[in-house]
Amino acid sequence: MKSYEIAVIGGDGTGPEVVREAIKVLDAASKKFGFKLNYTDYDLGGDRYLRTNEALPDSVVEELRKFPAILLGAIGHPDVKPGILEKGILLRLRFELEQYINLRPVKLYDERFCPLKDKKPEHVDFVVVRENNEGLYTGSGGFVFKGTPNEIAIQESVNTRRGVERCLRFAFEVAKKRNKDNKLTLCGKTNVLTYAFDLWERAFHEVGKKDYPTIQRDYAHVDATTMWFVKNPEWFDVIVTDNMFGDIITDLGAMVQGGMGIAAGGNINPEGASMFEPIGGSAPKYTGQGVINPLAAICAGQMMLDFLGETEAAQSIEKSVIQVTREKVKSLAAGKLGYSTSEVGDFVAAGL
Ligand code: IPM
Ligand code: MN
Repeated sequence: MKSYEIAVIGGDGTGPEVVREAIKVLDAASKKFGFKLNYTDYDLGGDRYLRTNEALPDSVVEELRKFPAILLGAIGHPDVKPGILEKGILLRLRFELEQYINLRPVKLYDERFCPLKDKKPEHVDFVVVRENNEGLYTGSGGFVFKGTPNEIAIQESVNTRRGVERCLRFAFEVAKKRNKDNKLTLCGKTNVLTYAFDLWERAFHEVGKKDYPTIQRDYAHVDATTMWFVKNPEWFDVIVTDNMFGDIITDLGAMVQGGMGIAAGGNINPEGASMFEPIGGSAPKYTGQGVINPLAAICAGQMMLDFLGETEAAQSIEKSVIQVTREKVKSLAAGKLGYSTSEVGDFVAAGL
């Protein structure tokens, strides 16, 4: 029987609660489809940091590197200064494990949960491929004359041909595999960021023309993209963009698909340890109440199985999530599900 080693980082706040439900569903799927998942828990997050003053020991990074996949709950603690855990755990893992893709599907499962008027599941079904290792996130830059009236703060966007090209290639492959409209939209700001997105645009057309002639290439400025997300989400199939723009547009995407309760993403290194997560935060105020929506974490688990090659099991989870979304839950928001966190997990597991 095929088996997979999975690292589990429950993390902070409601993270462990939603990961528990994801594992419940993954175990049910593995039983049904005949493979095995072996989990290794890692105690990372705000509590550990407050206890040890260390966010992520080097030795843990080296251990995590050996797993094909990592399932992450949430990182973020009210008693830890913003930035420390995000940079120290999440961004560090993305960079050191070279998870250079952040894959975020935006798919509406039930019309009731779309905040846009008259938009139905057939209108909201696209994927954002966000570059995950470069851009404004590298920490390149610095201060000059810090703390004086002449202070200068510089934050640089790093765009390498290699980093941009591998991201574009991944996105073209997603467009090909999805086979929906066979269209890839580059989301940028070529009218202002005339160095960074010049490189992106040239690489986009070069790679597309040479290696993906059947994929239609489209372009939208990032500001216009946010407009189309709301007005005409049906125009999109696959979108590729840089790290910062990807961060921003995928929060909007999450809302369009029904909110953080259902939005999942994968931090992907196609040849290495990839990390799957619900994209909402740790929601500390709901911790331990059993009211948080586990569907996003379950969808992260589904993406993980898809990545591992267990396509049938992944599809079956998605089908069950759709059914639970349409027929069971009253809302996708924490505290308003109409059921407890674990009941929602039970429904999805039973629906496989
Ligand atoms: C995300 C988050 C992170 C990001 C934060 C927590 C550093 O917003 O995964 O989108 O900016 O990438
Ligand atoms: Mn974000």
